[in-house]
Amino acid sequence: MANTNLANAKTAKNDEFYTQYPDIQKEINAYLDYDPNVFRGKTVLLPCDDPEWSNFTKFFAQNFELLGLKKLISTSYAPESKKYKLPYQPTLFETEQPHFDADKSKTHGKIFVLERDVTGDNRINIEDLQWQYLEGDGDFRSKEIRQLRDEADIIVTNPPFSLFREFVLWLMEAQKQFIIIGNMNAVTYKEIFPLIKENKMWLGNGFQNGNAYFRVDAPRESYADGVYDENTSLVKFRNCCWFTNIDHGRRHQPLRLMTMAENFKHSKHKEIRGREDYIHYDNYDAIEIPYTDAIPSDYEGAMGLPKSFLDKYCPEQFEIIGIAEGDSGKELGLKPFPPELKKLNPSLRQGQLYYMEDGYPVKPYARILIRKKQS
Ligand SMILES: C[S@@+](CC[C@H](N)C(=O)[O-])C[C@H]1O[C@@H](n2cnc3c(N)ncnc32)[C@H](O)[C@@H]1O
Repeated sequence: MANTNLANAKTAKNDEFYTQYPDIQKEINAYLDYDPNVFRGKTVLLPCDDPEWSNFTKFFAQNFELLGLKKLISTSYAPESKKYKLPYQPTLFETEQPHFDADKSKTHGKIFVLERDVTGDNRINIEDLQWQYLEGDGDFRSKEIRQLRDEADIIVTNPPFSLFREFVLWLMEAQKQFIIIGNMNAVTYKEIFPLIKENKMWLGNGFQNGNAYFRVDAPRESYADGVYDENTSLVKFRNCCWFTNIDHGRRHQPLRLMTMAENFKHSKHKEIRGREDYIHYDNYDAIEIPYTDAIPSDYEGAMGLPKSFLDKYCPEQFEIIGIAEGDSGKELGLKPFPPELKKLNPSLRQGQLYYMEDGYPVKPYARILIRKKQS
């Protein structure tokens, strides 16, 4: 039994990462700067958020009036349904209520609603949150939470990392506006990339200096040096970002770029400075751009960039052609590489780009193919 528990603990994906209040505030402010009325008269659903822990619930409840919300709904997931179980102790917030139920507290999700002044102080704020147990465990895929999704105008949360694809499809199915946190690698998923390409989803404003901090309780996994700080119980991730389909100003700021000639003369990147031409791929008509700030302003053809480009992507400046990965790469028409090259570089994969350097086939990391927007 003990061994089974240990095995479960090791294989269970940890989804218990709690977002910091200042990060939420900074992100939401970016949408408000662009449109001060973006939340006015709207119902906001936070579908993975227990207000006793979630700073999303705190933020939206505290700013209910300022944002002009119509209704705030926050639902939480039952402790016993979580894959990564932590010792569970209901808080006073729950136990002090007459409808507290010790069994349901473990097996049912909870719903918290903020809609009107309940305390009679003529203000609507966190004190007015009303809660009850859900019928089920609060799984966002359940009928009960789907109904709340359909009622909402905007969905905001940091969803379970292990269910990110499913969560995005769940949002798309209902065609809702959203602001969520996810891993940057998700942009290459076959379910996610087409949404980015078609401008149905884009990167949000972003974490301060690209550093996302999350609170983790009693971590069981080991983190690389510098990731987990036991004094603060915070982990720092460099590869997390916000995803949204709501506009913010940064998205419409075109990159200021040098021409090709200027890049060869002044680029800060040794791979570019002093060259006479950009590297051209051998199996697709495009040039290799290893850094976003090395995009030449005067090149009209296709260019391959690392996925970090998406953080600077302005849809008025560039269009996305596709991603050079697996089936998507094959659909783009990437030529298959000659089999003898595989002997030289066994990491070559069909559907990915390569170029020859001193007789050796080099395969860059997953590249997003873009071109300048034709005006
Ligand atoms: C990454 S954490 C973020 C929590 C909170 N949104 C925040 O940002 O502080 C994701 C939460 O979703 C919960 N969760 C996991 N699977 C879920 C599901 N199927 N439906 C709803 N919530 C789920 C996890 O237990 C976890 O508390």
